[in-house]
Amino acid sequence: MSGICDGRVVIVTGAGRGIGREHALEFARQGAKVVVNDLGAGPGGTGRSGGPALEVVEEIRALGGQAVANSDDIADWDGSARLVKMALSAFGRLDVLVNNAGFVRDRMLVSMTEQEWDDVIRVHLKGHFLPLRHASAHWRERSKSGERVDARVINTSSGAGLFGSVGQGNYAAAKAGIAALTLVAAAELGRYGVTVNGIAPAARTRMTEEVFAEMMARPESGFDAMDPANVAPVVVWLGSADSAHVTGRMFEVEGGSIALADGWRHGPRAERDARWEPAEVGEAVAKLLAGAPGPEPVYGA
Ligand SMILES: NC(=O)c1ccc[n+]([C@@H]2O[C@H](COP(=O)([O-])OP(=O)(O)OC[C@H]3O[C@@H](n4cnc5c(N)ncnc54)[C@H](O)[C@@H]3O)[C@@H](O)[C@H]2O)c1
Repeated sequence: MSGICDGRVVIVTGAGRGIGREHALEFARQGAKVVVNDLGAGPGGTGRSGGPALEVVEEIRALGGQAVANSDDIADWDGSARLVKMALSAFGRLDVLVNNAGFVRDRMLVSMTEQEWDDVIRVHLKGHFLPLRHASAHWRERSKSGERVDARVINTSSGAGLFGSVGQGNYAAAKAGIAALTLVAAAELGRYGVTVNGIAPAARTRMTEEVFAEMMARPESGFDAMDPANVAPVVVWLGSADSAHVTGRMFEVEGGSIALADGWRHGPRAERDARWEPAEVGEAVAKLLAGAPGPEPVYGA
């Protein structure tokens, strides 16, 4: 197998199922050697099994590609360090990290438990930071030793994180954090030859099957816009050497659509050379709101 990622070594987290599995398979088809990470967690993040990661590795080998399985928890410091080390020991290098693993525990804010909050923030936000932390330390070391590094990180946010989503306060907060982490990482790691971008995908997986049942129905014929394999081409291109000029960007990817998400910007401003009186703020804010477009609607509102 050969293509735009020939010889590159790629880690995909949560690649045993859903969208991550499709990333891993497409990277392999495009010539990459893949570390398939998956804890094998149940839909709500409970339980563990090495099975899903191994199955994807077998699929890649059956296609003629190279892959190894890793079942570490990406939100654990030592586990994510082992994951990065595995890429180096199995394939001798690391070029691309795709942060993708996660799960949801949806609940309205008024009834969300502390555990539901902590677990979802942990798996997504810490689960992005830790592999990024260990991989970037490796790339900095290579860069400082004089090597020309050409590495990529692709993070997985969500429309929930960019626009908000009713019943997903924990998940939306984590995914918004991932969008901000992407900007910071792009700014910090450029000097070492690392680009960092994010995607907000939409596809039919076990995570979304129940929520969007109608939308997720498979068409009898024609293009299946909700096939999770539709997301992989953008991620694989972002992981290739061809995308070196793109960093700090967020792409919404669904079906045959690739859209650039345009994030927070400085908007209209009211300014004076003195502190505002509280009673005067209302009028100033009214003028600002009149001069600005309204916010995008929150999903499910
Ligand atoms: N499906 C969508 O429409 C959609 C929309 C927006 C964002 N996303 C995001 O895309 C990513 C993939 O989601 P999916 O829909 O393919 O879900 P999925 O449940 O099919 O796959 C997620 C995988 O992550 C693994 N995982 C969970 N916790 C882990 C951990 N601690 N360490 C390692 N692996 C772990 C699971 O075992 C599972 O195989 C997630 O980050 C999700 O939030 C998906």
